[in-house]
Order: sequence, then structure tokens, then C-alpha cells
Amino acid sequence: MNTVFSFPEGFLWGTATAAHQVEGNNVNSDTWVMEHLNHSLYLEPSGDAIDHYHRFGEDIRLLAELGFNSYRFSIEWARVEPERDFISQAMLDHYKRMLETCQEYGLTPMVTLHHFTSPRWLICDGGWGSLETAERFGDYAGLVMREMGDMIGVVCTINEANIPSMVKMIWQRMGMGDDGGEREEFNHMATAEAAEFFGVSIEHFKPFMLSTEDQDREVILNAHRQATFACKMERPDVPVGITLALSDLQADEGGETVRDEYRHEMQDIYLDAARQNGDDFIGVQTYTRSRFGSQGMLPVPDGAAITQMGYENYPLALEGTIRYAAEKTGLPVYVTENGIGTSLDSDRLEYYRVALQCVVDCMRDGIDVRGYYAWSAFDNYEWNSGYEKTFGIIGVDRTTQKRKVKTSGFWLGDVAKANQYPID
Ligand code: BGC
Repeated sequence: MNTVFSFPEGFLWGTATAAHQVEGNNVNSDTWVMEHLNHSLYLEPSGDAIDHYHRFGEDIRLLAELGFNSYRFSIEWARVEPERDFISQAMLDHYKRMLETCQEYGLTPMVTLHHFTSPRWLICDGGWGSLETAERFGDYAGLVMREMGDMIGVVCTINEANIPSMVKMIWQRMGMGDDGGEREEFNHMATAEAAEFFGVSIEHFKPFMLSTEDQDREVILNAHRQATFACKMERPDVPVGITLALSDLQADEGGETVRDEYRHEMQDIYLDAARQNGDDFIGVQTYTRSRFGSQGMLPVPDGAAITQMGYENYPLALEGTIRYAAEKTGLPVYVTENGIGTSLDSDRLEYYRVALQCVVDCMRDGIDVRGYYAWSAFDNYEWNSGYEKTFGIIGVDRTTQKRKVKTSGFWLGDVAKANQYPID
């Protein structure tokens, strides 16, 4: 018999974006600079992106019309503080208008304070390798909360704080490895060129993604702590947490030790830090699984469906990651990102169908999941991969900037509106 699972009242249904991926012309950010170097790690520049900077009003209205009651977006540090110690009132006002628009359309804003990009001056000053960055980030968080905290529903300090630890693997995933060292050589040359541009040595070139050393991790976690403290000083009532890139790490027989070692480095250190910091929630961001044998990570199983990103289409991953994050931290969970890069919207719809079943199964077992955010609201700038990869539930024609809702978008919006999900 078919029945339905009713989500608790106040469950947040949203989609997520990041400023740099949608706004366009984020010219004072480190990433913009790196996109425009002769040898760039980025396939193409972000340019106008999908001009969300100007079109946020119609975009937010569209999300509300679809049925969502929340929207996750980031407030761009490089815009708010484009030069060290210069705070742009105009940019603060811009983000206040975004928050007001969310309010107007009944969307609870979940705000990310750092989503991969940093102000370019920060990188000249040592970036995420410098302890001072943690303080500067704390100041920035305090400023945002002082200025507009009364309109913010939930704060994510740092998006995927653990991704720098995973970056080498991710480059390989993007098809940039495994070519007789050619790609590695290119990456080295591009990084050296970028470091020179920012006026630092290659060892001290620390944009967020390339801050892969143990001491950089300390800076990142410290930045999270300082930001949490600053947010709480200004608005103790607003929940604050961190988000993590959590792949479902599965061990084949004999692969448990290798898996656990990997998990310690990539996930446990961060999950423990969230718990120890007394965070209000843990943000789970899941796209796929990784399997381990006794010799290390295993390739995608033969015959498995592959996403545009080159990894396995495996929506069931979400069940494992929610359970693991909840158990390890004891904190409430928001699924702050979940989705698939595919040109086939029917695959996207199926991915969401299975993923939501995972959320329901976890909640039926008593896990405190408080919200679900699809990545992404729109097809957008997929970092190093440029605009080729499409994660959106809303498509965008970048010549006209026209938005077109996909079937998956209508479907997900309907589930959100109903706040119910059919179960067996
Ligand atoms: C990031 C997003 C990215 C998405 C899809 C996440 O790691 O937070 O910015 O676009 O994955 O690759």
C-alpha cells in the first residue's frame, strides 16, 4: 500500500547556489584572477555567469513559485571587502536587498559566508595559510551578522571546509590526472604563474582550494571557530554550522582499514571539530560514493552509470552520509547540497527521487534532518569545468539569460510544497 511521509512543519526545502557561480563579474576575487591567467586551471572564465547579481529578484520569485520555502546562497567576501579594510556599503545593501526579497517571497535564507572564493588581497596576504585569515574571516562574519543578521535564517560559515584535503583526488576525478604527468606539470606551471601574479612564493600561494597542508587545515577550522563566535556575539539566536563534502565511503571486504584511514583524514577530523565547536548543525553535501579495497580506492564498478563529472551516479550515497554525520557529531543535519551533473533531466529526477527516499528513511529512524537543498537552483559555473556541466533544476540560456524550469524542478517544488513524500 502506498502511503506518505509527512515532513515536520518548518522543514526547509531549498536549492543552493554560490555567489561566484551565478552572480557574474566577481572581479575582486582570487578565482576571477586565476581564470584570466595565461595558463589557467579553469577551462573558461566565469564572465557574466548567469547574472544573478542583477536578476536575483526574478530568480528568487521563481524559486518561491516552484514551491520552495528556503534559498541557500553565499554573501561574497570579495564584494563586501574588495580591498583590505575597505567595506563596501553598496555591496552590503545589495545583499540586504536579496535577503529582503527572500522575506517578501516567504523563503528562509540560508547564508554561506565562504564558498570557495576569497578576496584577492587575502591571497596576497598569505590566504588560508595565514593565521590572520581566521581573524579576518571572523571579523567579516561579525560584520555580516551585525548588518543583516536579523534577516538570516541559518548560517553556513565555510562551504566544504574539507575540500582542500580532497583536492588532488578531485582534480583526478575531473579527468585532469592519469595522463603521464602532463596535467600535473600543467597544474604546477599554472600554480606557479598564479603565485607570481599574487606576489607570493608558490609555498605561500594559498587560495582556499589549494590550502592542502595540515597547518592550512588549522587555519580553516580556526576561521570557522572565529566566525561562529562572531555570529553568536551578534545574533545568538541564528543557527551556525559548517558544511562538508561527504562522499559515502564504502569498504569492500578487506578494504575497511584503508577506508577508515581515508575517512579519518577527509571527514572525521572535520566532523569532530564541528562537534567540539558546539555547532548548531552539520551541513551534509553528498554527490556520490567511493569504494575501497585493501589497496586503496576502487574504480567505479563496471557498467555503472557515470555523471558528467566522471563519478558514479549513486544517489543512495545520501543515506550513508546523513547517518554517518549524525552519528559522529550528534548534531541535527541539513542536507546543504545534493544533486547530479547530467544533461538528462530524467536522470536528475530519478536521482532526487532516490535521494529523498534516503532522507525519509533516515528520518523514520529518528535522525534529526531539518532541511534539504538541491544543488543547484540553476545551471551555473562549475568552477574548473566551466559551463559544460549542468546541475540545475532550472536551465539558463546564457546568451539571453532566460531561465527555463526543468521537469525535475517542477517535481521537487511540488514535493516541497506538499511537505510530504510517498513511501512504500
Ligand atoms: C560545491 C559546489 C559545486 C558542486 C558540484 C560542491 O562541491 O559546493 O560549488 O558546484 O559541488 O560539483
